[in-house]
Amino acid sequence: MIAAQELATTARALVAEGKGILAADESTGTIKKRFDSIEVESTEENRRAYRQMLFTTAGAADFVSGVILYDETIRQSSEDGTSFPELLEREGIIPGIKVDCGAKPLALADGETVTEGLDGLRERLEEYRQLGARFAKWRATYSIGDGLPSEYCVWVNAHALARYAALCQEAGLVPIVEPEVLQEGAHTIEESSRATGRALQAVYTELHDQRVELDGTLLKPNMVLSGYGAAQRADVDEVADATLECLYRHVPAAVPGIVFLSGGQTDEDATAHLNAMNQRGPHPWELSFSYGRALQAPALKAWGGRPENLEAGQQAYLHRARLNGAARTGSYSAEMEERAAA
Ligand code: 13P
Repeated sequence: MIAAQELATTARALVAEGKGILAADESTGTIKKRFDSIEVESTEENRRAYRQMLFTTAGAADFVSGVILYDETIRQSSEDGTSFPELLEREGIIPGIKVDCGAKPLALADGETVTEGLDGLRERLEEYRQLGARFAKWRATYSIGDGLPSEYCVWVNAHALARYAALCQEAGLVPIVEPEVLQEGAHTIEESSRATGRALQAVYTELHDQRVELDGTLLKPNMVLSGYGAAQRADVDEVADATLECLYRHVPAAVPGIVFLSGGQTDEDATAHLNAMNQRGPHPWELSFSYGRALQAPALKAWGGRPENLEAGQQAYLHRARLNGAARTGSYSAEMEERAAA
């Protein structure tokens, strides 16, 4: 059994100053959607080549502390035969792994989901650790709507997140606990705050009851936003204030870091929101990123599946990583976007 101290050290390393996490753990179905958007066929080799482009970007380790891999990816290698986890470790980037099996319809709860994947998880974690993973991720999702999320959905997902987190700590992996309140819809920022607060409160109740040591965990929440379909949308300052208020109410100070997901925000919004929150610091926890789309979208587009665009793809990824690294210390500005675009 890995000492609690080692888990806490890994958790803190993942939120080291100026750095955050790249979520490159798209399931085969999700990466196909991303590839469809650039008209690239989602073959195993194309997926490997794309991830290799990201993982071999020189200089990324200055801004990226860890990468979340998918089951297929953790078993893949670069062209020279180095396994991806090994390659990342050599660069000083910590490899992690998504271990949930996806959000499935919750029985007797129309429109709600529960995340599955607990059966056999102890054995899978053991294998992932041997493959080089040092942290893991499990994502639960909640929708905002008429009476949603229900108490039923909030508590079954919190229970599963805590069972996952306890198994991770037993296996020597830092659990990233990801309760994502989806921001699709026309809800107000207040409704987003209420739903996010309820989800977080249940998660920390279950983590406590299931004996999870919070200093060896990270939280990956949504930011508190008005719905993407809302007529009037909250601005950067309102999002920063509402998100911080919600976190201060519901996240214990023993948690070393909060690593936001981007959840469909534009790249610029995801960076600006994180920056505004860090400008209001210091906070009890590090505030960082664990972005998928907001780090990868420009790189995916610049690459377009063409080997000759590899460098352009890497530059696009490095640029977003650098800007989000700046947002970690509240030193990002919109002019940094323009400078790069010029
Ligand atoms: P996005 O940043 O694209 O929301 O992805 C983060 C993630 O890992 C979702 O589980």
